[in-house]
Amino acid sequence: MKKLFSPMEIGNVRLKNRIVMSPMCMYSSMNEDGMITPFHMTHYTSRAVGQVGLIMTEATAVQPEGRISVHDLGIWSDDHIEGLKQLNEQIHSYGSKTGIQLAHAGRKAVLDPSTDIYAPSAISFNEKHKTPKEMTINDIEQTIHAFRQGARRAKEANFDIIEIHGAHGYLISEFLSPLANKRIDDYGGERENRFRILQEIVEAIKIEWNGPLFVRLSTNEYNENGNTLEDILYFTDQLKALGVDLIDCSSGGVVPARIHTFPGYQVQRCESIKHHTKIATGAVGLITSPKHAEEILENNRADLIFLGRELLRNPYWAKNAAMELNETIQAPKQYERGWN
Ligand SMILES: Cc1cc2nc3c(=O)[nH]c(=O)nc-3n(C[C@H](O)[C@H](O)[C@H](O)COP(=O)(O)O)c2cc1C
Repeated sequence: MKKLFSPMEIGNVRLKNRIVMSPMCMYSSMNEDGMITPFHMTHYTSRAVGQVGLIMTEATAVQPEGRISVHDLGIWSDDHIEGLKQLNEQIHSYGSKTGIQLAHAGRKAVLDPSTDIYAPSAISFNEKHKTPKEMTINDIEQTIHAFRQGARRAKEANFDIIEIHGAHGYLISEFLSPLANKRIDDYGGERENRFRILQEIVEAIKIEWNGPLFVRLSTNEYNENGNTLEDILYFTDQLKALGVDLIDCSSGGVVPARIHTFPGYQVQRCESIKHHTKIATGAVGLITSPKHAEEILENNRADLIFLGRELLRNPYWAKNAAMELNETIQAPKQYERGWN
């Protein structure tokens, strides 16, 4: 069997294949309340019909001021649980597992101009972004608590996996990076301190959640003063020690930067993390061909393949990949006459 179609057990969760829908904001909570809408039901369920093994929701805000836009999904209130639960029920009925990406946008939040936004330091992302408020210790504690509550709600909504959004220059990524974190207290300075908020978020989530836990990181900040690979490996070693199951290896977004992209441009760091930290990894970024995905898995460079834009173009990518790799995959019952 091709590795792309081999199952993977992570803790108590069994993925039917190695294909993951990468988290992608759809900005479709049109009432600005963070609620699941009919669009989300159709969008995510289509990829489950298409036999994607794990469907990760878009960045879902643990606090309203932690939204990238007012149209983001949210999980800051118990009112969000029911919609997410219905979404999970639909996805599960096609045999896919579900993950939720718990997020806080930090200084990259673009909200109503009257709303305060928060970050480790009062430095804006660029001239177009608002200057954030430097978080007080009380603000930090409230945000850690919000991640914990998000995890409790995710469990009540029947998610199988939680992913912490620690990438792309959003709040956690800002704390991790010396480019955005200029604090002089216990949450800034040396990398041990910059890591502290993520450590405390992982610990808080684990009080509520005993399922698989992923963390997405920007494994390259494309800036000579940013985190080095050595810093990243320090973070991933710590995350492993804290019981994190998988590192989802993305890059960029911390400060404006020109990024040279090409098929698999983030795989090298993904492979380094996998072998140094001895932790499962997810590869993402311009992986579009089934043979490329299979190469990454067979060469032991990653354990899961996250697909973003390719799944926006083609919800049936898994079916096409199976045909190209001479595999058969189970069709959703209703589609058997077309697929078999
Ligand atoms: C429309 C869109 C929305 C995205 N939203 C998120 C997000 O919510 N969280 C996240 O971690 N990455 C987000 N990303 C990044 C993707 O998950 C993925 O890492 C990136 O697109 C590279 O993979 P690809 O080349 O397969 O698209 C988004 C990307 C796109 C295109």
